[in-house]
Order: sequence, then structure tokens, then C-alpha cells
Amino acid sequence: MTSTFLLIGHLILLIPLFSAEECIVCDYFVLVGEPTAISCPVITLPALHSDYNMTWYKNGSNTPITTEKNARIHVRKGLLWFIPATLEDSGLYECEVRGLNRSNQKTINLKVFKNDNGLCFNGKMKYEQVVNSANIGNIICPDLENFKDEDNVKPEVHWYKECKPGFLEDKRFVLAEGENAVLIHNVSVQDKGNYTCRMVYTYMGKQYNVSRTMSLVVKESPLQMRPEFIYPKNNTIEVELGSHVVMECNVSSGINSLIPYWEVNDGYVDDFDSTYREQFYEKGMPHGITVAGTKFNISKVKVKDYAYKFFCHFIYESQQFTSYIKLEPPAQNIQGYLIGGGVSLVFLVFVTLIIYKIFKIDIVLWYRNSCHPFLGEKASDGKIYDAYVLYPKNRESCLYSSDIFALKILPEVLERQCGYNLFIFGRNDLPGEAVISIADEKIRQSRRVIVILVPEPSCYSILEDASEKHLAMYNALIQDGIKVILIELEKIHDYTNMPESIKYIKQKYGAIRWKGDFSERSHSASTRFWKKVRYHMPSRKRGSSSGFHLLP
Ligand SMILES: *[C@@H]1O[C@H](CO)[C@@H](O)[C@H](O)[C@H]1NC(C)=O
Ligand SMILES: *[C@@H]1O[C@H](CO)[C@@H](O)[C@H](O)[C@H]1NC(C)=O
Ligand SMILES: *[C@@H]1O[C@H](CO)[C@@H](O)[C@H](O)[C@H]1NC(C)=O
Ligand SMILES: *[C@@H]1O[C@H](CO)[C@@H](O)[C@H](O)[C@H]1NC(C)=O
Ligand SMILES: *[C@@H]1O[C@H](CO)[C@@H](O)[C@H](O)[C@H]1NC(C)=O
Ligand SMILES: *[C@@H]1O[C@H](CO)[C@@H](O)[C@H](O)[C@H]1NC(C)=O
Ligand SMILES: *[C@@H]1O[C@H](CO)[C@@H](O)[C@H](O)[C@H]1NC(C)=O
Ligand SMILES: *[C@@H]1O[C@H](CO)[C@@H](O)[C@H](O)[C@H]1NC(C)=O
Ligand SMILES: *[C@@H]1O[C@H](CO)[C@@H](O)[C@H](O)[C@H]1NC(C)=O
Repeated sequence: MTSTFLLIGHLILLIPLFSAEECIVCDYFVLVGEPTAISCPVITLPALHSDYNMTWYKNGSNTPITTEKNARIHVRKGLLWFIPATLEDSGLYECEVRGLNRSNQKTINLKVFKNDNGLCFNGKMKYEQVVNSANIGNIICPDLENFKDEDNVKPEVHWYKECKPGFLEDKRFVLAEGENAVLIHNVSVQDKGNYTCRMVYTYMGKQYNVSRTMSLVVKESPLQMRPEFIYPKNNTIEVELGSHVVMECNVSSGINSLIPYWEVNDGYVDDFDSTYREQFYEKGMPHGITVAGTKFNISKVKVKDYAYKFFCHFIYESQQFTSYIKLEPPAQNIQGYLIGGGVSLVFLVFVTLIIYKIFKIDIVLWYRNSCHPFLGEKASDGKIYDAYVLYPKNRESCLYSSDIFALKILPEVLERQCGYNLFIFGRNDLPGEAVISIADEKIRQSRRVIVILVPEPSCYSILEDASEKHLAMYNALIQDGIKVILIELEKIHDYTNMPESIKYIKQKYGAIRWKGDFSERSHSASTRFWKKVRYHMPSRKRGSSSGFHLLP
């Protein structure tokens, strides 16, 4: 028993003195022609155990390596120095540490290498270093602590990326003076690669290069994302009574070990209904995001499920986060009715518009007739005639007779049947009066100007009446109050030869085409043609009151 205790006591004492690192044969490497200093991988604590001797041997040799400082290979301050290393130096070396009662030894393997062709490093002899993206990272030029110059001045370190200098010009890279390191701000994936550092070491008056190559690995760091509910989001879902629902709550975050859980009616869902077996899951997503979730099945929705909100909670930084979902029975298709109603309303308006478009004239005429008594009497506008009629006088040989239309049919319908009062040039004018002054005066006394047009120029000459027509148009146009009604006795395809004022009126008001013949039937005020004309005529009233304008 006692001896066991003693042994344990010894072990405890010995471990700090000779705790070897994990390697059995530890590997070292150096570029040919460069110096290196190797420490024995047996950790010693000189402060506690200053009383020990260290000896180095070449593999298989019993002769300790010299401590003579001028030798290319020598031991100085416990380190095995090669100044510089040659290819033949590759091989095993042994270090022995001898304390008062104990000793320990370790074998190391030195590899002296050459650079790869055309490169400033050897792809197999690199130090791997890892930085996280989006953070500050650093690249360290390692194992330089023994290469202080003899006068102890910190040497200058030169840096290369893929053997090329200049990468430090990127402002994100900052040289950490004196620390043999480069800081990288806002590390990005592009920063990965082979970085080489090189310094000059002077020993015994001779200069040597000391270089290291680091392979920088950039890890995409997990986004520092606060946990967030993916689902639910305090929402309501409609489910039929008796239907099957999977109740899922999930949280995305940049951390593991969040545990969301369901509660309803201030208790766990499993207590609320023993068939609701809640199950937790966690899965990794790209970019270091973790989704933690919990779900349970409601195999048949019951009435009680509609009564409560189902809360999903999780705790993060000792704070509770909550989101809920509520089940509701489906509403009785109110939405459907609403949509249907909306559609029919739009349809109704549409149909009404079409009907109005088609029957506009009849409606207006009917309105004028039927509503007439209710419209208050308006003040007289001082006009004598309802319309001033302008028509081309035809030559005798022609088939169409604008004279017949203007002097016979027009008065028959508008005057006799509808009660309008017309001024027809060539009927009402008194012989001998100056044409121009009459026209001007009579148009001023009229509410409308009716212009009758016929195809040019075979039968009729508008030119003959040009002055009169122009004058009339001019008046009609400038006194914007007078509307012009164009009546085509025949389809007129080409308006190019018409006076400008006619073209303008045709464009502004359009024209009404006479489709009838000169028979009795065409003399009825209720034909389509005459309805159109009446529609454009002022609302007729007894006396000389102004028309009620329901015109567009
Ligand atoms: C170390 O070596 C010196 C001289 O060689 C010797 O005097 C000393 O006792 C040694 N110490 C130990 C701990 O072996
Ligand atoms: C080390 O020494 C042993 C014995 O002297 C020898 O068998 C072995 O080959 C040597 N190894 C190397 C790598 O030199
Ligand atoms: C070394 O051994 C001697 C006797 O062999 C013993 O008296 C001494 O305590 C030991 N020292 C240590 C540090 O173990
Ligand atoms: C680093 O060097 C190795 C060769 O040792 C090469 O294959 C690799 O492409 C280099 N890395 C980059 C990022 O250029
Ligand atoms: C790092 O990124 C942040 C935000 O993208 C920017 O404000 C900052 O200037 C960057 N730092 C450097 C050294 O480029
Ligand atoms: C150090 O390395 C550089 C670049 O390879 C080279 O130009 C220089 O001559 C070397 N210096 C010594 C002392 O070997
Ligand atoms: C989170 O839960 C919702 C609702 O069940 C589901 O649609 C979605 O796929 C889930 N997301 C993940 C990443 O699991
Ligand atoms: C929920 O129901 C589905 C089938 O709809 C089944 O695959 C799943 O295992 C059930 N989950 C639980 C937790 O009972
Ligand atoms: C959802 O509801 C919970 C509790 O009622 C509340 O704490 C949370 O802030 C709500 N979340 C959102 C996004 O409204």
C-alpha cells in the first residue's frame, strides 16, 4: 500500500519535469541553406528543476554533439543549432535530459528540404494556419524567437503571398511590427493561400535567410445570427374539425443547443392531450446556421384545440422568446361571397356602361321628354333659332338633292315633328340682303349650326359658298358656345379637299350620316338618324328658353 502511494507521489513530482509532448518521433523541417534551432520536445520547467543537464546525440552515436559555437552543428542554450542546414543533415537526433535521479530522452526527425521548382517554398513543408472569415485574422511567421541577431535587434521580416510581395498594399492587411505577424481585417475567402515570410539572420558575421511558409485556411465563420422564429409567426391557420395537423415550431440561429418547446393553456402540450407527443429536432444548415425545431401531431382536431393559442418558446441569453399559432375553424366562405359580389358588381357596372353606350341617345331623348316638366324654367339665352342650316346648293343635273334634304326633309322632321325653329339659308333670307351680314347675324341668333355635306366635287361646289361657309365656321368656332352638327348625305371618304374648318369639326364632333331615302319612312323623327340629330340638338322647350344640356 505504502509503496503505491509513494509511486504516485513520484509520478506527480516527475510529470512536470519530464512531460513529453504527444509526438513519439517529433518532426522538424528546414530549407536547405537556412539555419534552424531545435529544442528538445521534453518540456522542462527550469524554475523548479534547474538542476538538469541536456545532451544531444546524432542517431546511433554515443558522442554528444559539440557545444563549440563555431561548429556548423552545435548545441547552445539547450538548442540544437544547424547554421546552416545541409541536405545530409536530414535524419534522427536524440536529446537526453538528465535530472538528479531521473533521465528522459526523445528522438526528433529533421528533414532538410529544397523548394519546389519555381517556388519560394515547398508545398509539403508548410505551417497551416486558420482564420475565420468576416473577422480579424492574423498570419504568424512562426519559430523566429531564437533568431534574434547577436546584438538583439529585432530583424525585419519580408512578406510574400504566392511568392510575390505587395499584398500588404491592401489596406486590410496590417503589419504587426515586432510580432512577426500580419493582421487581416474583414477576412474573406480570397485571402486563403500560401504566405511566406523571410528575415535575415546574422551569425558570426555571416548572413543567412530564415523563411517560413504558411498555408492560410479561411473558415467561413458562422453568422452571428440571433435566433429567430421561422414558424410560427403569431399567425392563425384554418383547420377543419377532425383533420390532421402537424404543429411545427422552428428557430434558426447561429448557435447550437437552443431548445424550443410548445405550451398551451399554461402547460406542456403533452399534458394538454396525451396523444400530442412533442418531438424535438435539430439540423445544420449551410453557412453555420442551425435550425432547432419541435413538432407534434394533432391527428384529429378537436373543439378544445380552437380554444387556446399554442405558444412556442425558447430561452436565449436568459430571455424567453415566444411566438404562437392559433387554430380556427374555416370561415363559412365569406370570402367567396365577397369575391363573387365584387365580380358581379364590376360586371353590373360594365353592362350598365355598355347599355348606356348603345342606348345613350334614346335615354337622353327619353329623359328630355319625360323629365321636361320637372326642369325649372331657365332664363332665355336670347337666341331665336335652334339651328342655322348650311348646305351646298346643287347644280340642276345632279341625282342627289341637298336642296330637297335641306329645304324639305329637315324642316319636315325638325320643325314640324319636333318643334324646332330653324334658319335655313336660302329659305329664310330675304332677297337683296347682303349674304355675309345675314349669315353672321343669324348664326349669332342660333344655338346650333347644321352643316350638310355631300361628296365633292362632281355635283356640288362648296367653293361657291366658300365665303359664307368659312364665315359660319369661324363664328361657330370662336364662339365656342355653338355646337356644330355635320350631316353627310353620303359617305365621304376623303376630307382632304374640305376646308380646314370642316376637317376640324369632323374631328372634334364627328359626323352623322344620312342613310335614308326620300320616301315617307325616312321622314319619321323616331328613326335612328333623326334620333342622333335630335340628340345633338338643344333640348327643346316651348318658348325661347335655352336647352337643358345633357350632352356629353
Ligand atoms: C551536469 O553536468 C555537470 C558537469 O558535467 C555535473 O557537474 C552536474 O552534476 C550534472 N548535473 C546533473 C543533474 O546531472
Ligand atoms: C538510427 O540508428 C540506428 C542504429 O544505429 C540505425 O539502425 C538506423 O538506421 C538509424 N536511422 C537513421 C534514420 O539514421
Ligand atoms: C534521489 O535519490 C536519492 C537516493 O537515491 C534520494 O535520497 C533523493 O531523495 C532522490 N532525489 C529526488 C529528487 O528524487
Ligand atoms: C499553395 O501552394 C500549393 C502548392 O504547394 C498550390 O497547389 C496551391 O494552389 C497554392 N494555393 C493558392 C491559394 O494558390
Ligand atoms: C471592414 O468592413 C466594415 C464593414 O463592411 C467596414 O466598415 C470597414 O471599413 C472594413 N475595414 C477595413 C479595414 O477594410
Ligand atoms: C535570401 O533570399 C533571397 C531571395 O531568395 C535571396 O535573394 C538572397 O540572396 C538570400 N540571402 C542569403 C544570405 O542567402
Ligand atoms: C419550419 O417549419 C415550417 C412549418 O412547419 C416548415 O414549413 C419549414 O420547412 C420548417 N423549416 C425548416 C428549415 O425546417
Ligand atoms: C406525425 O404524423 C406523420 C404522418 O402524417 C408521421 O410521419 C410522424 O411520424 C408523426 N409524428 C409524430 C411526432 O407523431
Ligand atoms: C408574438 O406574440 C408573443 C406573445 O403574445 C409576443 O411576445 C411576441 O412579441 C409576438 N411576436 C411578434 C413577431 O409579433
